[in-house]
Amino acid sequence: MSLTPTPADRFTFGLWTIGWTAQDQFGSATRKDLDYVEAVEKLASIGAYGMTLHDNDLFPFDADESVRRANIDRLKGALEATGLKMPMITTNLFSHPVFKDGGFTSNDREVRRFALRKVLKNIDLAAELGAETFVMWGGREGAEYDAAKDVISAIQRYREAVNVLTSYVKDKGYNIRFAIEPKPNEPRGDILLPTVGHALAFIETLEHPELVGLNPETGHEQMAGLNFTAGIAQAIEAGKLFHIDLNGQRGVKFDQDLVFGHGDLINAFSLVHLLEYGNDGKTRYQGMRHFDYKPSRTEDYSGVWASAEANIRMYLLLKERAAAFEADPEVKEAKAAARVDELKQPTLSPGEGYAELLAAGESGFEPDAYFNGKGFNFVRLNQLAIEHLMGAR
Ligand code: GCO
Ligand code: MN
Ligand code: MN
Repeated sequence: MSLTPTPADRFTFGLWTIGWTAQDQFGSATRKDLDYVEAVEKLASIGAYGMTLHDNDLFPFDADESVRRANIDRLKGALEATGLKMPMITTNLFSHPVFKDGGFTSNDREVRRFALRKVLKNIDLAAELGAETFVMWGGREGAEYDAAKDVISAIQRYREAVNVLTSYVKDKGYNIRFAIEPKPNEPRGDILLPTVGHALAFIETLEHPELVGLNPETGHEQMAGLNFTAGIAQAIEAGKLFHIDLNGQRGVKFDQDLVFGHGDLINAFSLVHLLEYGNDGKTRYQGMRHFDYKPSRTEDYSGVWASAEANIRMYLLLKERAAAFEADPEVKEAKAAARVDELKQPTLSPGEGYAELLAAGESGFEPDAYFNGKGFNFVRLNQLAIEHLMGAR
């Protein structure tokens, strides 16, 4: 298996990732601004498929129409020249002071109306650039104080906003779907729709749920102490994995945005295995492998690109390790011993209902055999997985 990326691998990067100048809460920037045309050219040269951006990564918040248009056209020229794609675009509803209490769910109605207009305009840009996924990360949608935010109303305003956006896309005939990106906290003390599970439940209450899915991020679920692979599996099963943000996180703490695999490596391995194989070969994830990481503040320009390539290399190495795991006859045997595939078998037989189930009784089934016997052999299977991950097999 090749460790040289090609556009067919669908690796994409946010302009705000490689372009991060590393200003944080405690210190000023350690790197200079990255020009978006240079970003496009560099990404194409390292084998990426595409780049993504927020509206205000490309033009300032207060840009007039001529600046906005000039920058869009200059970007389009670079995309055409390199063949790099722009499969996802998103809106900055978090940097400007106007969004200090959020966009869609600010207590201030005028702010909510302004935020919706900003997003509608950006959907037109997404359509112009050929983006088919529109991410909604609501980092400022939340609160620090329970008394300050009526969460029931906030969820209703969130729903109202998403319904307006989906009706716009339908009326315009755009080929665009929305992907909600959950995050538990940071920058707000508590963010609305904090996990994959919360967002999945919310989507089902929308006017056009078929147009709305998820963009889960590795580190965000792990910040909540959750198993990212398990969340992604549920999103796949629900048909809602529209996009994914890959990065690294080490435990329950601030959002680290490390290189993919530089956090919980075991979880990264199971994730790549899931994305590449699904559970039956049919549920393989077909979308972008989008890296949303931050080149550490310690790195200079060359370190930015070394870290970008590290994301790609980690994914390809894990894909190669996952293939070795899949092909190993001993793994197949260990999976059978662990009865992994037996879970695919429906619990009731064809035509059977609860009456037949009750009538079948307990004949031949001995619950007591599970004491001091009938172990599931899960540890052996996991040891084989880790040995493959370590390159020991
Ligand atoms: C974060 C988020 C963002 C979003 C981005 C696109 O924690 O800062 O992950 O990077 O992904 O705003 O919506
Ligand atoms: Mn993040
Ligand atoms: Mn993200």
